[in-house]
Amino acid sequence: MLLKVWLCIFFAYARLGEENSLKVEKIQFPRDISPMTLNNYIQSRGNEALICPKYFCKPNDMVFTTGTCVYENESTESFYVQKCNSDYVCDMQYPVNYTCIIPPYFSGSNPGEKCNTLADCSQYCTNCTNNICLGVSLNSNCQYHLQCNPGLACSSNNVCIAQIPIGGYGCRSDYDCVNTAGCNSTYGQLGSCLSYFSIPPHQYVGLCNGGQSSLCSSISCASNGQQYLCTIPLLSASATPVSCLSNSDCLSTSDPFFNPPFSLQGYCSCGLNSNGISYCPLSPGDALYLKYLNQYQKWIMSPEINKCNTVDRFDTACISNWWDNKNFTTFMNYFLNVGYYSQVQNTPLCVLQTLMPEYLQYSNTGPFCPSFQCKTASQVFASNQCVFYDGNQNFYVKACSDSNTVCNFVSLQNATCVPIIKYPGQNCTFSNECFTYACANGVCQGGGKGSKCKKSAECDPGLYCSSDECKPLKGMGERCTSDSTVSMARYAWEIFKGVFLLAP
Ligand SMILES: *[C@@H]1O[C@H](CO)[C@@H](O)[C@H](O)[C@H]1NC(C)=O
Ligand SMILES: *[C@@H]1O[C@H](CO)[C@@H](O)[C@H](O)[C@H]1NC(C)=O
Ligand SMILES: *[C@@H]1O[C@H](CO)[C@@H](O)[C@H](O)[C@H]1NC(C)=O
Ligand SMILES: *[C@@H]1O[C@H](CO)[C@@H](O)[C@H](O)[C@H]1NC(C)=O
Ligand SMILES: *[C@@H]1O[C@H](CO)[C@@H](O)[C@H](O)[C@H]1NC(C)=O
Ligand SMILES: *[C@@H]1O[C@H](CO)[C@@H](O)[C@H](O)[C@H]1NC(C)=O
Ligand SMILES: *[C@@H]1O[C@H](CO)[C@@H](O)[C@H](O)[C@H]1NC(C)=O
Repeated sequence: MLLKVWLCIFFAYARLGEENSLKVEKIQFPRDISPMTLNNYIQSRGNEALICPKYFCKPNDMVFTTGTCVYENESTESFYVQKCNSDYVCDMQYPVNYTCIIPPYFSGSNPGEKCNTLADCSQYCTNCTNNICLGVSLNSNCQYHLQCNPGLACSSNNVCIAQIPIGGYGCRSDYDCVNTAGCNSTYGQLGSCLSYFSIPPHQYVGLCNGGQSSLCSSISCASNGQQYLCTIPLLSASATPVSCLSNSDCLSTSDPFFNPPFSLQGYCSCGLNSNGISYCPLSPGDALYLKYLNQYQKWIMSPEINKCNTVDRFDTACISNWWDNKNFTTFMNYFLNVGYYSQVQNTPLCVLQTLMPEYLQYSNTGPFCPSFQCKTASQVFASNQCVFYDGNQNFYVKACSDSNTVCNFVSLQNATCVPIIKYPGQNCTFSNECFTYACANGVCQGGGKGSKCKKSAECDPGLYCSSDECKPLKGMGERCTSDSTVSMARYAWEIFKGVFLLAP
Protein backbone atom coordinates (compact mmCIF):
# COMPACT_ATOMS: atom_id res chain seq x y z
CA MET A 1 0.00 0.00 0.00
CA LEU A 2 2.78 2.35 0.93
CA LEU A 3 4.27 1.76 -2.48
CA LYS A 4 1.13 2.90 -4.23
CA VAL A 5 1.09 6.03 -2.19
CA TRP A 6 4.63 6.73 -3.27
CA LEU A 7 4.07 5.99 -6.88
CA CYS A 8 1.08 8.20 -7.11
CA ILE A 9 2.77 11.22 -5.72
CA PHE A 10 2.50 14.03 -8.11
CA PHE A 11 5.42 15.02 -10.21
CA ALA A 12 6.34 18.38 -11.43
CA TYR A 13 7.34 19.28 -14.87
CA ALA A 14 7.57 22.60 -16.46
CA ARG A 15 6.35 23.65 -19.80
CA LEU A 16 5.31 26.67 -21.69
CA GLY A 17 1.68 27.09 -20.73
CA GLU A 18 -1.02 29.47 -21.87
CA GLU A 19 -0.14 33.14 -21.73
CA ASN A 20 3.48 32.10 -22.09
CA SER A 21 3.90 31.84 -18.35
CA LEU A 22 6.02 29.07 -16.95
CA LYS A 23 4.43 26.66 -14.56
CA VAL A 24 5.29 23.69 -12.51
CA GLU A 25 2.54 21.34 -13.54
CA LYS A 26 1.03 18.50 -11.71
CA ILE A 27 1.24 15.12 -13.35
CA GLN A 28 0.71 11.66 -12.10
CA PHE A 29 3.45 9.12 -12.12
CA PRO A 30 2.45 6.20 -14.34
CA ARG A 31 1.77 2.90 -12.66
CA ASP A 32 2.60 1.02 -15.84
CA ILE A 33 6.34 0.82 -16.52
CA SER A 34 6.30 -0.82 -19.96
CA PRO A 35 8.29 0.71 -22.85
CA MET A 36 5.15 2.07 -24.53
CA THR A 37 4.19 3.98 -21.40
CA LEU A 38 7.75 5.16 -21.04
CA ASN A 39 7.71 6.49 -24.58
CA ASN A 40 4.32 8.22 -24.19
CA TYR A 41 5.51 9.61 -20.96
CA ILE A 42 8.67 11.13 -22.42
CA GLN A 43 6.69 12.53 -25.33
CA SER A 44 4.08 14.10 -23.08
CA ARG A 45 6.76 16.22 -21.49
CA GLY A 46 8.39 17.30 -24.75
CA ASN A 47 7.64 20.90 -25.41
CA GLU A 48 10.35 22.42 -27.58
CA ALA A 49 10.48 25.03 -24.89
CA LEU A 50 13.02 27.63 -25.81
CA ILE A 51 12.53 29.17 -22.40
CA CYS A 52 12.67 26.89 -19.41
CA PRO A 53 12.32 27.97 -15.80
CA LYS A 54 15.33 27.73 -13.55
CA TYR A 55 15.27 25.72 -10.34
CA PHE A 56 17.24 26.68 -7.29
CA CYS A 57 17.44 25.51 -3.73
CA LYS A 58 15.91 28.12 -1.47
CA PRO A 59 18.72 30.44 -0.43
CA ASN A 60 19.22 30.86 3.30
CA ASP A 61 18.17 34.50 3.23
CA MET A 62 14.84 33.81 1.51
CA VAL A 63 11.98 33.38 3.97
CA PHE A 64 9.26 30.85 3.17
CA THR A 65 5.86 30.66 4.81
CA THR A 66 5.71 27.41 6.80
CA GLY A 67 4.88 24.48 4.55
CA THR A 68 5.92 26.14 1.30
CA CYS A 69 7.97 23.85 -0.92
CA VAL A 70 8.21 25.82 -4.17
CA TYR A 71 8.12 29.55 -4.61
CA GLU A 72 8.09 31.14 -8.04
CA ASN A 73 9.63 34.48 -8.87
CA GLU A 74 7.74 35.22 -12.07
CA SER A 75 9.92 38.09 -13.17
CA THR A 76 13.04 35.92 -13.27
CA GLU A 77 11.26 32.69 -14.23
CA SER A 78 12.88 30.99 -11.29
CA PHE A 79 11.55 28.41 -8.87
CA TYR A 80 12.98 28.25 -5.38
CA VAL A 81 12.63 24.88 -3.76
CA GLN A 82 12.74 23.58 -0.22
CA LYS A 83 12.05 19.96 0.56
CA CYS A 84 9.08 19.00 2.69
CA ASN A 85 9.39 17.41 6.09
CA SER A 86 9.21 13.62 6.06
CA ASP A 87 5.71 12.18 5.55
CA TYR A 88 4.81 15.20 3.41
CA VAL A 89 5.01 15.66 -0.35
CA CYS A 90 5.09 18.80 -2.41
CA ASP A 91 1.68 19.45 -3.98
CA MET A 92 2.06 21.22 -7.29
CA GLN A 93 -1.15 23.24 -7.63
CA TYR A 94 -0.79 26.28 -9.82
CA PRO A 95 -1.00 29.23 -9.23
CA VAL A 96 -0.72 29.36 -5.47
CA ASN A 97 2.55 28.67 -3.76
CA TYR A 98 3.27 24.99 -3.75
CA THR A 99 2.78 23.55 -0.33
CA CYS A 100 3.66 20.40 1.52
CA ILE A 101 0.74 18.02 2.02
CA ILE A 102 0.20 14.51 3.34
CA PRO A 103 0.24 12.39 0.17
CA PRO A 104 -3.17 11.36 -1.14
CA TYR A 105 -4.04 7.77 -0.47
CA PHE A 106 -4.82 5.60 -3.47
CA SER A 107 -6.54 2.44 -2.42
CA GLY A 108 -7.23 -0.56 -4.44
CA SER A 109 -5.30 -3.66 -5.28
CA ASN A 110 -6.63 -5.26 -8.43
CA PRO A 111 -7.35 -8.97 -8.90
CA GLY A 112 -4.11 -10.89 -8.38
CA GLU A 113 -2.58 -8.28 -6.05
CA LYS A 114 -2.15 -8.59 -2.32
CA CYS A 115 -4.64 -7.57 0.38
CA ASN A 116 -5.32 -7.97 4.07
CA THR A 117 -9.02 -7.28 3.88
CA LEU A 118 -11.49 -6.59 1.08
CA ALA A 119 -11.11 -2.88 1.82
CA ASP A 120 -7.59 -3.09 0.36
CA CYS A 121 -9.02 -4.26 -2.98
CA SER A 122 -10.28 -2.05 -5.78
CA GLN A 123 -13.85 -1.80 -7.05
CA TYR A 124 -13.07 -4.50 -9.62
CA CYS A 125 -12.66 -7.21 -6.99
CA THR A 126 -15.13 -9.56 -5.37
CA ASN A 127 -13.22 -10.71 -2.30
CA CYS A 128 -9.90 -10.87 -0.50
CA THR A 129 -9.05 -14.54 -0.17
CA ASN A 130 -5.72 -15.93 1.09
CA ASN A 131 -4.43 -12.35 1.01
CA ILE A 132 -5.04 -11.99 -2.71
CA CYS A 133 -7.76 -9.85 -4.27
CA LEU A 134 -10.14 -12.00 -6.25
CA GLY A 135 -11.77 -11.07 -9.52
CA VAL A 136 -14.34 -13.02 -11.46
CA SER A 137 -13.49 -16.42 -12.87
CA LEU A 138 -13.62 -18.12 -16.25
CA ASN A 139 -16.92 -17.71 -18.14
CA SER A 140 -18.32 -15.15 -15.70
CA ASN A 141 -19.69 -11.86 -16.94
CA CYS A 142 -17.44 -8.82 -17.07
CA GLN A 143 -17.37 -5.30 -18.33
CA TYR A 144 -13.66 -4.59 -17.89
CA HIS A 145 -10.48 -6.63 -18.19
CA LEU A 146 -9.66 -5.53 -14.65
CA GLN A 147 -12.54 -7.57 -13.27
CA CYS A 148 -11.16 -10.90 -14.50
CA ASN A 149 -8.74 -13.06 -12.55
CA PRO A 150 -5.12 -13.35 -13.75
CA GLY A 151 -4.88 -15.51 -16.89
CA LEU A 152 -8.22 -14.22 -18.20
CA ALA A 153 -9.34 -11.33 -20.38
CA CYS A 154 -12.80 -9.77 -20.85
CA SER A 155 -14.03 -10.78 -24.32
CA SER A 156 -16.05 -8.64 -26.72
CA ASN A 157 -19.07 -10.69 -25.50
CA ASN A 158 -18.41 -9.47 -21.95
CA VAL A 159 -17.29 -12.81 -20.57
CA CYS A 160 -13.96 -13.58 -18.86
CA ILE A 161 -12.15 -15.98 -21.20
CA ALA A 162 -8.66 -17.47 -21.22
CA GLN A 163 -6.03 -15.10 -22.64
CA ILE A 164 -4.98 -16.00 -26.19
CA PRO A 165 -1.70 -17.96 -26.26
CA ILE A 166 1.36 -17.00 -28.31
CA GLY A 167 0.64 -17.60 -32.01
CA GLY A 168 -3.13 -17.51 -31.44
CA TYR A 169 -5.38 -15.26 -33.54
CA GLY A 170 -8.19 -12.89 -32.56
CA CYS A 171 -6.68 -10.20 -30.31
CA ARG A 172 -7.88 -6.58 -30.28
CA SER A 173 -5.12 -5.36 -27.97
CA ASP A 174 -2.24 -6.74 -25.91
CA TYR A 175 -4.70 -7.37 -23.05
CA ASP A 176 -6.38 -10.18 -25.00
CA CYS A 177 -3.02 -12.00 -25.14
CA VAL A 178 -1.13 -13.87 -22.42
CA ASN A 179 0.93 -11.49 -20.29
CA THR A 180 4.15 -12.29 -22.17
CA ALA A 181 2.72 -11.38 -25.58
CA GLY A 182 1.42 -8.38 -27.48
CA CYS A 183 -1.16 -8.15 -30.24
CA ASN A 184 0.29 -7.80 -33.75
CA SER A 185 -2.67 -6.12 -35.44
CA THR A 186 -3.29 -3.27 -37.83
CA TYR A 187 -5.85 -0.53 -37.16
CA GLY A 188 -9.38 -1.87 -36.75
CA GLN A 189 -8.35 -5.47 -37.45
CA LEU A 190 -7.93 -8.48 -35.22
CA GLY A 191 -4.35 -9.66 -34.86
CA SER A 192 -2.20 -12.51 -33.59
CA CYS A 193 -0.49 -12.73 -30.24
CA LEU A 194 3.32 -12.57 -30.56
CA SER A 195 6.01 -12.64 -27.87
CA TYR A 196 7.24 -9.20 -26.91
CA PHE A 197 10.60 -8.35 -28.52
CA SER A 198 10.21 -11.14 -31.08
CA ILE A 199 10.24 -9.29 -34.42
CA PRO A 200 13.77 -8.76 -35.80
CA PRO A 201 14.87 -5.60 -37.66
CA HIS A 202 13.35 -5.02 -41.10
CA GLN A 203 10.43 -7.44 -40.59
CA TYR A 204 6.83 -6.23 -40.67
CA VAL A 205 4.96 -5.19 -37.56
CA GLY A 206 1.28 -4.24 -37.42
CA LEU A 207 1.33 -1.01 -35.43
CA CYS A 208 3.99 1.55 -34.65
CA ASN A 209 3.08 4.31 -32.19
CA GLY A 210 5.51 7.18 -31.85
CA GLY A 211 8.24 5.10 -33.49
CA GLN A 212 7.85 2.27 -30.98
CA SER A 213 6.50 -1.23 -30.77
CA SER A 214 7.13 -3.61 -27.89
CA LEU A 215 7.00 -6.44 -30.44
CA CYS A 216 10.23 -5.29 -32.14
CA SER A 217 13.50 -6.63 -30.74
CA SER A 218 14.86 -3.05 -30.95
CA ILE A 219 11.48 -1.63 -29.80
CA SER A 220 11.84 0.92 -32.64
CA CYS A 221 9.85 0.86 -35.86
CA ALA A 222 9.25 3.02 -38.92
CA SER A 223 7.09 3.15 -42.03
CA ASN A 224 8.35 2.36 -45.52
CA GLY A 225 5.40 4.33 -46.92
CA GLN A 226 2.95 1.42 -46.91
CA GLN A 227 3.68 -0.71 -43.87
CA TYR A 228 5.61 -0.62 -40.65
CA LEU A 229 8.85 -2.47 -40.09
CA CYS A 230 11.09 -2.88 -37.05
CA THR A 231 14.37 -0.95 -37.21
CA ILE A 232 17.88 -1.75 -36.06
CA PRO A 233 18.72 -0.43 -32.55
CA LEU A 234 18.93 3.37 -32.71
CA LEU A 235 21.21 5.35 -30.40
CA SER A 236 21.51 9.03 -29.57
CA ALA A 237 23.48 10.61 -32.41
CA SER A 238 25.50 12.85 -30.04
CA ALA A 239 27.24 12.10 -26.77
CA THR A 240 24.68 12.06 -23.95
CA PRO A 241 23.35 14.05 -22.21
CA VAL A 242 22.40 16.16 -25.22
CA SER A 243 21.25 19.68 -24.37
CA CYS A 244 18.76 21.01 -26.91
CA LEU A 245 16.80 23.99 -28.14
CA SER A 246 14.35 22.07 -30.27
CA ASN A 247 13.38 18.51 -31.15
CA SER A 248 15.62 18.63 -34.19
CA ASP A 249 18.60 18.58 -31.82
CA CYS A 250 17.40 15.19 -30.54
CA LEU A 251 18.02 12.86 -33.46
CA SER A 252 19.07 9.24 -33.15
CA THR A 253 21.49 7.40 -35.40
CA SER A 254 19.77 6.30 -38.60
CA ASP A 255 18.71 3.02 -40.16
CA PRO A 256 19.90 3.12 -43.80
CA PHE A 257 17.50 0.32 -44.77
CA PHE A 258 14.77 2.95 -45.08
CA ASN A 259 14.62 5.48 -47.90
CA PRO A 260 15.36 8.14 -46.79
CA PRO A 261 17.34 6.66 -43.85
CA PHE A 262 15.18 6.63 -40.74
CA SER A 263 16.07 8.44 -37.49
CA LEU A 264 13.99 8.83 -34.36
CA GLN A 265 13.44 12.40 -33.25
CA GLY A 266 13.24 12.73 -29.48
CA TYR A 267 11.30 15.39 -27.60
CA CYS A 268 13.42 18.18 -26.20
CA SER A 269 12.14 18.93 -22.71
CA CYS A 270 12.94 21.33 -19.92
CA GLY A 271 15.25 20.13 -17.23
CA LEU A 272 14.95 20.97 -13.54
CA ASN A 273 18.34 22.64 -13.40
CA SER A 274 19.47 26.11 -12.38
CA ASN A 275 20.41 27.17 -15.90
CA GLY A 276 17.09 26.66 -17.70
CA ILE A 277 18.67 24.07 -20.00
CA SER A 278 16.56 21.53 -21.92
CA TYR A 279 17.73 18.00 -22.64
CA CYS A 280 16.94 15.31 -25.18
CA PRO A 281 15.61 11.96 -23.96
CA LEU A 282 17.70 8.82 -24.47
CA SER A 283 17.20 6.72 -27.59
CA PRO A 284 16.13 3.08 -27.19
CA GLY A 285 19.56 1.78 -28.27
CA ASP A 286 21.50 3.80 -25.65
CA ALA A 287 23.27 1.83 -22.94
CA LEU A 288 21.04 2.90 -20.05
CA TYR A 289 17.86 2.36 -22.08
CA LEU A 290 19.09 -1.15 -22.97
CA LYS A 291 19.57 -1.91 -19.28
CA TYR A 292 15.95 -0.92 -18.72
CA LEU A 293 14.81 -3.12 -21.63
CA ASN A 294 16.85 -6.00 -20.32
CA GLN A 295 15.12 -5.78 -16.96
CA TYR A 296 11.74 -5.50 -18.69
CA GLN A 297 12.54 -8.70 -20.60
CA LYS A 298 13.56 -10.40 -17.35
CA TRP A 299 10.13 -9.60 -15.88
CA ILE A 300 8.43 -10.99 -18.99
CA MET A 301 10.41 -14.22 -18.66
CA SER A 302 9.71 -14.57 -14.94
CA PRO A 303 6.87 -16.84 -13.82
CA GLU A 304 5.60 -14.04 -11.55
CA ILE A 305 4.21 -12.03 -14.46
CA ASN A 306 1.40 -14.57 -14.74
CA LYS A 307 0.12 -13.63 -11.29
CA CYS A 308 -0.96 -10.20 -12.53
CA ASN A 309 -4.24 -9.17 -14.11
CA THR A 310 -3.92 -8.76 -17.87
CA VAL A 311 -4.03 -4.95 -17.60
CA ASP A 312 -1.56 -4.94 -14.70
CA ARG A 313 1.16 -6.99 -16.43
CA PHE A 314 3.59 -4.07 -16.14
CA ASP A 315 1.98 -2.41 -13.13
CA THR A 316 4.38 -1.39 -10.38
CA ALA A 317 2.02 -2.54 -7.63
CA CYS A 318 1.70 -6.02 -9.11
CA ILE A 319 5.40 -6.31 -9.92
CA SER A 320 6.38 -5.27 -6.40
CA ASN A 321 3.84 -7.70 -4.93
CA TRP A 322 5.31 -10.70 -6.68
CA TRP A 323 8.86 -10.09 -7.89
CA ASP A 324 11.81 -10.04 -5.52
CA ASN A 325 12.77 -6.64 -4.20
CA LYS A 326 16.13 -6.44 -5.94
CA ASN A 327 14.68 -7.12 -9.38
CA PHE A 328 11.77 -4.73 -8.79
CA THR A 329 14.00 -1.94 -7.52
CA THR A 330 16.30 -2.35 -10.49
CA PHE A 331 13.34 -2.11 -12.87
CA MET A 332 12.10 1.06 -11.15
CA ASN A 333 15.57 2.55 -11.06
CA TYR A 334 16.01 2.11 -14.81
CA PHE A 335 12.49 3.26 -15.62
CA LEU A 336 12.96 6.46 -13.65
CA ASN A 337 16.45 7.12 -14.98
CA VAL A 338 15.30 6.74 -18.57
CA GLY A 339 11.86 8.31 -18.08
CA TYR A 340 13.19 11.35 -16.24
CA TYR A 341 16.44 11.59 -18.14
CA SER A 342 15.96 15.25 -19.13
CA GLN A 343 14.74 16.15 -15.66
CA VAL A 344 17.61 14.71 -13.66
CA GLN A 345 20.54 16.26 -15.51
CA ASN A 346 22.42 18.72 -13.30
CA THR A 347 19.44 18.97 -10.97
CA PRO A 348 20.11 20.31 -7.48
CA LEU A 349 19.59 17.71 -4.79
CA CYS A 350 16.89 19.76 -3.02
CA VAL A 351 14.88 19.80 -6.27
CA LEU A 352 15.11 16.04 -6.65
CA GLN A 353 14.14 15.62 -2.99
CA THR A 354 11.13 17.88 -3.36
CA LEU A 355 9.82 17.27 -6.84
CA MET A 356 11.01 13.74 -7.55
CA PRO A 357 11.32 11.85 -4.28
CA GLU A 358 10.73 8.49 -5.98
CA TYR A 359 13.67 9.10 -8.22
CA LEU A 360 15.97 9.38 -5.24
CA GLN A 361 14.23 6.56 -3.43
CA TYR A 362 14.95 4.12 -6.22
CA SER A 363 18.21 5.51 -7.52
CA ASN A 364 19.71 5.40 -4.03
CA THR A 365 18.51 1.98 -3.06
CA GLY A 366 19.01 0.38 -6.43
CA PRO A 367 21.54 -2.39 -6.69
CA PHE A 368 23.36 -0.36 -9.31
CA CYS A 369 25.06 2.50 -7.55
CA PRO A 370 26.83 5.22 -9.51
CA SER A 371 30.48 4.54 -10.27
CA PHE A 372 33.29 6.81 -9.06
CA GLN A 373 36.63 6.84 -10.79
CA CYS A 374 39.60 9.13 -11.22
CA LYS A 375 39.60 11.63 -14.05
CA THR A 376 41.08 10.03 -17.15
CA ALA A 377 44.03 11.59 -18.97
CA SER A 378 41.93 12.48 -21.99
CA GLN A 379 39.20 14.27 -20.02
CA VAL A 380 39.40 18.04 -20.00
CA PHE A 381 38.24 19.65 -16.76
CA ALA A 382 37.56 23.33 -16.17
CA SER A 383 40.28 24.92 -14.03
CA ASN A 384 38.46 24.55 -10.70
CA GLN A 385 36.44 21.44 -11.58
CA CYS A 386 36.68 18.44 -9.26
CA VAL A 387 33.85 16.19 -10.49
CA PHE A 388 32.55 15.42 -13.97
CA TYR A 389 29.22 13.60 -14.11
CA ASP A 390 28.56 11.96 -17.45
CA GLY A 391 24.79 11.72 -17.02
CA ASN A 392 24.91 7.91 -16.92
CA GLN A 393 25.73 7.28 -13.29
CA ASN A 394 29.51 7.70 -13.78
CA PHE A 395 31.53 10.23 -11.82
CA TYR A 396 35.10 11.23 -12.69
CA VAL A 397 36.96 12.87 -9.85
CA LYS A 398 40.02 15.08 -9.44
CA ALA A 399 41.23 16.33 -6.04
CA CYS A 400 41.08 20.06 -5.29
CA SER A 401 44.66 21.27 -5.33
CA ASP A 402 44.09 24.36 -3.15
CA SER A 403 43.71 23.25 0.46
CA ASN A 404 41.48 26.25 1.18
CA THR A 405 38.84 24.86 -1.17
CA VAL A 406 36.52 21.92 -1.04
CA CYS A 407 34.66 20.00 -3.72
CA ASN A 408 31.01 21.12 -3.65
CA PHE A 409 29.78 17.70 -4.74
CA VAL A 410 26.09 17.34 -3.84
CA SER A 411 24.23 15.60 -6.60
CA LEU A 412 24.17 14.03 -10.03
CA GLN A 413 26.08 16.89 -11.61
CA ASN A 414 29.52 18.41 -12.17
CA ALA A 415 31.14 19.90 -9.10
CA THR A 416 33.79 22.57 -8.57
CA CYS A 417 36.30 23.44 -5.88
CA VAL A 418 34.86 26.22 -3.76
CA PRO A 419 36.36 28.11 -0.83
CA ILE A 420 35.59 26.71 2.58
CA ILE A 421 33.28 29.35 3.89
CA LYS A 422 30.88 27.90 6.42
CA TYR A 423 31.25 28.75 10.06
CA PRO A 424 29.79 27.19 13.17
CA GLY A 425 26.03 27.67 13.20
CA GLN A 426 25.65 27.84 9.42
CA ASN A 427 23.68 25.22 7.55
CA CYS A 428 25.71 22.65 5.66
CA THR A 429 25.42 19.42 3.71
CA PHE A 430 28.86 17.93 4.10
CA SER A 431 31.51 18.24 6.78
CA ASN A 432 34.12 19.42 4.33
CA GLU A 433 32.15 22.65 3.82
CA CYS A 434 32.60 23.57 7.45
CA PHE A 435 35.43 25.67 8.75
CA THR A 436 36.85 23.35 11.41
CA TYR A 437 34.36 20.93 12.86
CA ALA A 438 31.95 18.46 11.29
CA CYS A 439 28.55 19.10 9.75
CA ALA A 440 25.96 17.58 12.09
CA ASN A 441 22.16 17.79 11.72
CA GLY A 442 22.66 20.15 8.78
CA VAL A 443 24.62 22.71 10.79
CA CYS A 444 28.38 23.30 10.98
CA GLN A 445 29.52 22.51 14.50
CA GLY A 446 31.91 24.69 16.40
CA GLY A 447 34.14 24.37 19.41
CA GLY A 448 32.18 24.45 22.66
CA LYS A 449 33.04 26.53 25.66
CA GLY A 450 36.58 25.74 26.76
CA SER A 451 37.66 23.97 23.58
CA LYS A 452 40.96 24.84 21.89
CA CYS A 453 40.92 27.39 19.07
CA LYS A 454 43.08 29.64 16.96
CA LYS A 455 40.30 31.86 15.58
CA SER A 456 36.88 32.92 16.78
CA ALA A 457 35.41 31.40 13.64
CA GLU A 458 36.17 27.95 15.07
CA CYS A 459 33.94 28.48 18.11
CA ASP A 460 30.24 27.82 18.54
CA PRO A 461 27.87 30.77 18.09
CA GLY A 462 27.94 32.85 21.26
CA LEU A 463 31.62 32.13 21.87
CA TYR A 464 34.87 33.73 20.76
CA CYS A 465 38.49 32.65 20.78
CA SER A 466 40.57 34.12 23.57
CA SER A 467 43.94 32.74 24.75
CA ASP A 468 43.41 29.77 22.40
CA GLU A 469 40.15 28.87 24.10
CA CYS A 470 36.48 29.37 23.11
CA LYS A 471 34.85 31.68 25.65
CA PRO A 472 31.43 33.36 25.93
CA LEU A 473 31.07 36.62 24.01
CA LYS A 474 31.10 39.74 26.12
CA GLY A 475 27.94 41.68 26.71
CA MET A 476 27.21 45.38 26.48
CA GLY A 477 29.39 47.39 28.86
CA GLU A 478 32.08 44.76 29.30
CA ARG A 479 35.67 45.47 28.31
CA CYS A 480 36.72 44.20 24.88
CA THR A 481 39.65 44.11 22.49
CA SER A 482 37.87 43.63 19.17
CA ASP A 483 34.39 43.50 17.63
CA SER A 484 34.41 39.76 17.38
CA THR A 485 34.37 39.50 21.12
CA VAL A 486 31.00 41.31 21.21
CA SER A 487 27.75 39.52 20.54
CA MET A 488 26.07 41.84 18.06
CA ALA A 489 29.22 42.85 16.22
CA ARG A 490 29.72 39.29 15.04
CA TYR A 491 27.39 40.01 12.17
CA ALA A 492 29.47 42.92 10.95
CA TRP A 493 32.57 40.81 11.24
CA GLU A 494 31.07 37.96 9.21
CA ILE A 495 29.88 40.32 6.50
CA PHE A 496 33.35 41.80 6.37
CA LYS A 497 34.67 38.27 5.73
CA GLY A 498 32.22 37.95 2.85
CA VAL A 499 29.88 35.64 4.67
CA PHE A 500 26.43 36.49 5.84
CA LEU A 501 25.73 34.68 9.02
CA LEU A 502 22.07 34.02 9.69
CA ALA A 503 22.22 31.87 12.76
CA PRO A 504 21.75 31.88 15.63
C1 LIG B 1 19.13 25.22 8.82
O1 LIG B 1 18.94 23.84 9.15
C2 LIG B 1 18.01 23.66 10.24
C3 LIG B 1 18.06 22.19 10.60
O2 LIG B 1 17.97 21.37 9.46
C4 LIG B 1 16.63 24.10 9.77
O3 LIG B 1 15.69 23.92 10.80
C5 LIG B 1 16.70 25.56 9.39
O4 LIG B 1 15.45 25.96 8.85
C6 LIG B 1 17.80 25.81 8.36
N1 LIG B 1 17.92 27.23 8.17
C7 LIG B 1 18.01 27.79 7.00
C8 LIG B 1 18.12 29.28 6.99
O5 LIG B 1 17.98 27.12 5.95
C1 LIG C 1 4.15 32.81 -1.76
O1 LIG C 1 5.25 32.68 -0.86
C2 LIG C 1 6.03 33.86 -0.73
C3 LIG C 1 7.22 33.50 0.14
O2 LIG C 1 6.84 32.65 1.18
C4 LIG C 1 5.16 34.97 -0.15
O3 LIG C 1 5.91 36.15 -0.07
C5 LIG C 1 3.95 35.19 -1.06
O4 LIG C 1 3.09 36.12 -0.50
C6 LIG C 1 3.21 33.86 -1.27
N1 LIG C 1 2.18 34.05 -2.26
C7 LIG C 1 1.01 33.47 -2.16
C8 LIG C 1 0.05 33.74 -3.28
O5 LIG C 1 0.72 32.74 -1.24
C1 LIG D 1 12.30 38.46 -8.22
O1 LIG D 1 13.66 38.60 -8.53
C2 LIG D 1 14.05 39.93 -8.77
C3 LIG D 1 15.48 39.92 -9.29
O2 LIG D 1 16.29 39.14 -8.43
C4 LIG D 1 13.88 40.72 -7.48
O3 LIG D 1 14.25 42.07 -7.70
C5 LIG D 1 12.41 40.65 -7.05
O4 LIG D 1 12.26 41.26 -5.81
C6 LIG D 1 11.97 39.20 -6.94
N1 LIG D 1 10.52 39.19 -6.73
C7 LIG D 1 9.93 38.48 -5.80
C8 LIG D 1 8.45 38.59 -5.74
O5 LIG D 1 10.55 37.75 -5.06
C1 LIG E 1 -14.76 -14.00 0.96
O1 LIG E 1 -13.60 -14.59 1.51
C2 LIG E 1 -13.76 -15.02 2.83
C3 LIG E 1 -12.40 -15.43 3.35
O2 LIG E 1 -11.69 -16.18 2.41
C4 LIG E 1 -14.81 -16.15 2.86
O3 LIG E 1 -15.00 -16.57 4.19
C5 LIG E 1 -16.09 -15.60 2.29
O4 LIG E 1 -17.04 -16.64 2.20
C6 LIG E 1 -15.87 -15.02 0.91
N1 LIG E 1 -17.09 -14.34 0.49
C7 LIG E 1 -17.64 -14.58 -0.68
C8 LIG E 1 -18.88 -13.79 -1.01
O5 LIG E 1 -17.18 -15.38 -1.48
C1 LIG F 1 2.70 -8.70 -37.89
O1 LIG F 1 1.72 -7.95 -38.58
C2 LIG F 1 2.13 -7.49 -39.86
C3 LIG F 1 1.03 -6.59 -40.40
O2 LIG F 1 -0.17 -7.30 -40.44
C4 LIG F 1 2.41 -8.69 -40.76
O3 LIG F 1 2.84 -8.23 -42.04
C5 LIG F 1 3.49 -9.52 -40.12
O4 LIG F 1 3.72 -10.69 -40.88
C6 LIG F 1 3.11 -9.92 -38.70
N1 LIG F 1 4.25 -10.56 -38.06
C7 LIG F 1 4.23 -11.79 -37.62
C8 LIG F 1 5.52 -12.32 -37.08
O5 LIG F 1 3.23 -12.47 -37.63
C1 LIG G 1 15.41 -11.75 -10.66
O1 LIG G 1 14.46 -12.29 -11.51
C2 LIG G 1 14.91 -13.40 -12.26
C3 LIG G 1 13.79 -13.78 -13.21
O2 LIG G 1 12.61 -14.02 -12.50
C4 LIG G 1 15.29 -14.55 -11.33
O3 LIG G 1 15.80 -15.63 -12.05
C5 LIG G 1 16.34 -14.05 -10.36
O4 LIG G 1 16.63 -15.04 -9.41
C6 LIG G 1 15.84 -12.80 -9.64
N1 LIG G 1 16.90 -12.25 -8.82
C7 LIG G 1 16.85 -12.27 -7.48
C8 LIG G 1 17.97 -11.59 -6.77
O5 LIG G 1 15.96 -12.83 -6.87
C1 LIG H 1 30.63 18.99 -16.98
O1 LIG H 1 32.01 18.88 -17.13
C2 LIG H 1 32.45 18.56 -18.44
C3 LIG H 1 33.96 18.38 -18.41
O2 LIG H 1 34.57 19.56 -17.96
C4 LIG H 1 32.03 19.65 -19.42
O3 LIG H 1 32.38 19.29 -20.74
C5 LIG H 1 30.51 19.81 -19.34
O4 LIG H 1 30.10 20.89 -20.17
C6 LIG H 1 30.10 20.07 -17.90
N1 LIG H 1 28.64 20.09 -17.87
C7 LIG H 1 27.98 21.10 -17.35
C8 LIG H 1 26.50 21.01 -17.41
O5 LIG H 1 28.53 22.08 -16.83
